[in-house]
Amino acid sequence: MKVKNNIILALDVMNMKEATEICEKLEKDLDTIKIGYPLTLAEGLEAVSEIKETFNFKVICDYKVADIPATNSKICNQTFKAGADAIICHGFVGQDSVQACADEAGEFNAEVFLLTEMSHPGAKLFLQENADAIAKMGVDMGIKNYVAPATRINRLKEIREIVGKDAFIISPGVGKQGGDVKETLTYANAAIIGRSIYESDDSQKALKDFISLI
Ligand code: C5P
Repeated sequence: MKVKNNIILALDVMNMKEATEICEKLEKDLDTIKIGYPLTLAEGLEAVSEIKETFNFKVICDYKVADIPATNSKICNQTFKAGADAIICHGFVGQDSVQACADEAGEFNAEVFLLTEMSHPGAKLFLQENADAIAKMGVDMGIKNYVAPATRINRLKEIREIVGKDAFIISPGVGKQGGDVKETLTYANAAIIGRSIYESDDSQKALKDFISLI
Protein backbone atom coordinates (compact mmCIF):
# COMPACT_ATOMS: atom_id res chain seq x y z
CA MET A 1 0.00 0.00 0.00
CA LYS A 2 1.20 3.53 -0.77
CA VAL A 3 0.27 6.26 1.71
CA LYS A 4 0.46 9.92 0.71
CA ASN A 5 2.68 11.95 3.02
CA ASN A 6 3.12 8.78 5.12
CA ILE A 7 0.19 9.78 7.33
CA ILE A 8 -3.06 7.88 7.84
CA LEU A 9 -5.92 9.72 9.51
CA ALA A 10 -7.70 7.78 12.28
CA LEU A 11 -11.24 9.01 11.66
CA ASP A 12 -12.67 8.23 15.10
CA VAL A 13 -15.43 10.84 15.03
CA MET A 14 -18.96 9.89 15.93
CA ASN A 15 -21.05 10.99 12.95
CA MET A 16 -20.86 11.24 9.16
CA LYS A 17 -21.32 15.00 9.11
CA GLU A 18 -18.15 15.55 11.09
CA ALA A 19 -16.35 12.76 9.21
CA THR A 20 -17.22 14.32 5.84
CA GLU A 21 -16.20 17.81 6.94
CA ILE A 22 -12.80 16.59 8.13
CA CYS A 23 -12.23 14.53 4.98
CA GLU A 24 -13.09 17.56 2.80
CA LYS A 25 -10.57 19.68 4.68
CA LEU A 26 -7.78 17.11 4.47
CA GLU A 27 -8.27 15.39 1.13
CA LYS A 28 -5.51 17.39 -0.59
CA ASP A 29 -2.82 16.12 1.76
CA LEU A 30 -4.10 12.64 2.60
CA ASP A 31 -5.10 9.58 0.64
CA THR A 32 -5.59 6.97 3.37
CA ILE A 33 -8.14 6.91 6.19
CA LYS A 34 -8.56 4.45 9.05
CA ILE A 35 -12.13 3.84 10.15
CA GLY A 36 -12.74 1.97 13.39
CA TYR A 37 -15.58 0.99 15.68
CA PRO A 38 -16.45 4.55 16.83
CA LEU A 39 -17.67 5.74 13.42
CA THR A 40 -18.89 2.32 12.27
CA LEU A 41 -21.03 1.72 15.37
CA ALA A 42 -22.39 5.26 15.21
CA GLU A 43 -23.25 5.25 11.52
CA GLY A 44 -23.11 1.66 10.33
CA LEU A 45 -20.86 -0.01 7.79
CA GLU A 46 -22.34 2.44 5.27
CA ALA A 47 -19.83 4.94 6.68
CA VAL A 48 -17.13 2.98 4.86
CA SER A 49 -19.09 2.87 1.59
CA GLU A 50 -19.96 6.55 1.81
CA ILE A 51 -16.36 7.63 2.38
CA LYS A 52 -15.24 5.41 -0.51
CA GLU A 53 -17.92 6.83 -2.83
CA THR A 54 -17.35 10.48 -1.89
CA PHE A 55 -13.56 10.65 -1.65
CA ASN A 56 -10.59 9.19 -3.39
CA PHE A 57 -9.31 7.56 -0.20
CA LYS A 58 -8.04 4.12 0.58
CA VAL A 59 -9.90 2.91 3.66
CA ILE A 60 -8.36 0.64 6.29
CA CYS A 61 -10.98 -0.76 8.65
CA ASP A 62 -9.60 -1.07 12.16
CA TYR A 63 -11.92 -3.79 13.44
CA LYS A 64 -9.16 -5.62 15.29
CA VAL A 65 -10.73 -8.87 14.16
CA ALA A 66 -10.16 -11.52 16.84
CA ASP A 67 -12.59 -14.42 16.53
CA ILE A 68 -12.68 -18.01 15.35
CA PRO A 69 -11.83 -18.47 11.66
CA ALA A 70 -15.43 -18.94 10.48
CA THR A 71 -16.55 -15.72 12.18
CA ASN A 72 -13.45 -13.80 11.05
CA SER A 73 -14.30 -14.74 7.45
CA LYS A 74 -17.80 -13.30 7.82
CA ILE A 75 -16.55 -10.09 9.44
CA CYS A 76 -13.99 -9.59 6.67
CA ASN A 77 -16.51 -10.46 3.97
CA GLN A 78 -18.92 -7.77 5.12
CA THR A 79 -16.14 -5.22 5.55
CA PHE A 80 -14.69 -5.77 2.08
CA LYS A 81 -18.18 -5.82 0.52
CA ALA A 82 -18.67 -2.35 2.01
CA GLY A 83 -15.63 -1.21 0.05
CA ALA A 84 -12.76 -1.37 2.55
CA ASP A 85 -9.31 -1.70 1.00
CA ALA A 86 -7.82 -3.34 4.07
CA ILE A 87 -8.73 -4.68 7.51
CA ILE A 88 -6.72 -4.88 10.74
CA CYS A 89 -6.82 -8.21 12.54
CA HIS A 90 -5.38 -9.33 15.87
CA GLY A 91 -2.61 -11.90 15.87
CA PHE A 92 -3.03 -13.31 19.38
CA VAL A 93 -5.94 -15.47 18.19
CA GLY A 94 -3.50 -17.60 16.19
CA GLN A 95 -2.63 -18.59 12.68
CA ASP A 96 -5.95 -20.13 11.64
CA SER A 97 -7.93 -17.01 12.56
CA VAL A 98 -5.47 -14.70 10.78
CA GLN A 99 -5.43 -17.00 7.75
CA ALA A 100 -9.22 -16.72 7.50
CA CYS A 101 -8.85 -12.93 7.22
CA ALA A 102 -6.05 -13.25 4.67
CA ASP A 103 -8.11 -15.71 2.57
CA GLU A 104 -11.12 -13.41 2.55
CA ALA A 105 -8.92 -10.43 1.65
CA GLY A 106 -7.57 -12.45 -1.27
CA GLU A 107 -11.12 -12.93 -2.61
CA PHE A 108 -11.59 -9.16 -2.77
CA ASN A 109 -8.07 -8.20 -3.81
CA ALA A 110 -7.88 -6.41 -0.47
CA GLU A 111 -5.24 -6.40 2.24
CA VAL A 112 -4.79 -7.55 5.83
CA PHE A 113 -2.79 -5.73 8.50
CA LEU A 114 -1.61 -7.91 11.37
CA LEU A 115 -1.69 -6.17 14.74
CA THR A 116 1.36 -7.14 16.77
CA GLU A 117 1.56 -4.92 19.86
CA MET A 118 -0.86 -2.16 20.79
CA SER A 119 0.21 1.40 21.62
CA HIS A 120 -1.48 2.01 24.99
CA PRO A 121 0.12 1.32 28.43
CA GLY A 122 -2.12 -1.71 29.05
CA ALA A 123 -0.56 -3.51 26.09
CA LYS A 124 2.49 -4.19 28.29
CA LEU A 125 0.45 -6.46 30.55
CA PHE A 126 -0.37 -9.33 28.19
CA LEU A 127 0.25 -8.43 24.58
CA GLN A 128 3.85 -7.21 24.64
CA GLU A 129 5.41 -10.50 25.73
CA ASN A 130 3.82 -12.25 22.77
CA ALA A 131 4.17 -9.52 20.15
CA ASP A 132 7.46 -10.82 18.71
CA ALA A 133 5.94 -14.27 18.31
CA ILE A 134 2.89 -12.74 16.62
CA ALA A 135 5.14 -10.84 14.20
CA LYS A 136 7.14 -14.04 13.48
CA MET A 137 3.91 -15.91 12.82
CA GLY A 138 2.97 -13.21 10.32
CA VAL A 139 6.29 -13.58 8.54
CA ASP A 140 5.88 -17.37 8.37
CA MET A 141 2.39 -16.87 6.93
CA GLY A 142 3.62 -14.43 4.29
CA ILE A 143 1.74 -11.45 5.76
CA LYS A 144 3.10 -8.21 4.27
CA ASN A 145 1.38 -5.56 6.43
CA TYR A 146 1.74 -4.94 10.17
CA VAL A 147 0.61 -2.57 12.93
CA ALA A 148 3.19 -1.71 15.63
CA PRO A 149 3.32 1.02 18.30
CA ALA A 150 4.66 4.56 17.86
CA THR A 151 4.59 4.98 21.64
CA ARG A 152 7.46 2.55 22.22
CA ILE A 153 10.06 3.18 19.52
CA ASN A 154 12.32 0.37 20.74
CA ARG A 155 9.46 -2.09 20.26
CA LEU A 156 8.62 -0.64 16.85
CA LYS A 157 12.28 -1.09 15.90
CA GLU A 158 12.34 -4.68 17.19
CA ILE A 159 9.17 -5.55 15.30
CA ARG A 160 10.66 -4.00 12.12
CA GLU A 161 13.71 -6.24 12.57
CA ILE A 162 11.46 -9.30 12.77
CA VAL A 163 9.17 -8.49 9.83
CA GLY A 164 12.00 -7.23 7.61
CA LYS A 165 12.58 -4.13 5.52
CA ASP A 166 10.10 -5.04 2.80
CA ALA A 167 7.12 -5.35 5.16
CA PHE A 168 4.73 -2.41 5.39
CA ILE A 169 4.27 -1.14 8.95
CA ILE A 170 1.66 1.38 10.01
CA SER A 171 2.08 2.84 13.46
CA PRO A 172 -0.50 4.43 15.79
CA GLY A 173 0.25 6.51 18.87
CA VAL A 174 1.71 9.69 17.35
CA GLY A 175 0.60 12.97 18.94
CA LYS A 176 -2.04 12.49 21.63
CA GLN A 177 -0.55 9.22 22.90
CA GLY A 178 2.95 10.76 22.95
CA GLY A 179 4.67 9.27 19.89
CA ASP A 180 6.92 11.41 17.67
CA VAL A 181 6.12 11.39 13.97
CA LYS A 182 9.70 11.65 12.66
CA GLU A 183 11.07 8.98 14.98
CA THR A 184 8.13 6.72 14.14
CA LEU A 185 8.76 7.00 10.43
CA THR A 186 12.35 5.86 10.92
CA TYR A 187 10.90 2.36 11.37
CA ALA A 188 7.30 2.57 10.11
CA ASN A 189 6.07 3.28 6.59
CA ALA A 190 3.16 5.39 7.79
CA ALA A 191 2.01 6.99 11.04
CA ILE A 192 -1.62 6.76 12.11
CA ILE A 193 -2.78 10.02 13.68
CA GLY A 194 -6.26 10.74 15.03
CA ARG A 195 -7.16 13.16 17.79
CA SER A 196 -4.19 15.50 17.31
CA ILE A 197 -5.63 16.28 13.89
CA TYR A 198 -9.42 15.92 14.06
CA GLU A 199 -9.76 17.50 17.52
CA SER A 200 -7.65 20.49 16.50
CA ASP A 201 -9.36 23.84 15.86
CA ASP A 202 -7.51 23.92 12.57
CA SER A 203 -7.19 20.34 11.34
CA GLN A 204 -5.57 21.41 8.06
CA LYS A 205 -2.80 23.21 9.91
CA ALA A 206 -2.40 20.34 12.39
CA LEU A 207 -1.88 17.91 9.50
CA LYS A 208 0.49 20.26 7.68
CA ASP A 209 2.50 20.73 10.89
CA PHE A 210 2.98 16.94 11.11
CA ILE A 211 3.96 16.78 7.43
CA SER A 212 6.51 19.55 7.90
CA LEU A 213 8.18 17.52 10.67
CA ILE A 214 8.74 14.51 8.44
O1 C5P B 1 -6.31 9.62 18.43
P1 C5P B 1 -5.06 8.79 18.25
O2 C5P B 1 -4.03 9.46 17.38
O3 C5P B 1 -4.50 8.28 19.55
O4 C5P B 1 -5.59 7.53 17.41
C1 C5P B 1 -4.87 6.34 17.27
C2 C5P B 1 -5.75 5.36 16.53
O5 C5P B 1 -5.06 4.14 16.34
C3 C5P B 1 -7.04 5.00 17.23
O6 C5P B 1 -8.00 4.75 16.22
C4 C5P B 1 -6.72 3.72 17.96
O7 C5P B 1 -7.86 2.92 18.13
C5 C5P B 1 -5.78 3.06 16.97
N1 C5P B 1 -4.82 2.09 17.48
C6 C5P B 1 -3.93 2.38 18.49
N2 C5P B 1 -3.04 1.42 18.90
C7 C5P B 1 -3.02 0.22 18.31
C8 C5P B 1 -3.90 -0.08 17.28
C9 C5P B 1 -4.79 0.89 16.88
O8 C5P B 1 -3.91 3.51 19.01
N3 C5P B 1 -2.12 -0.66 18.65
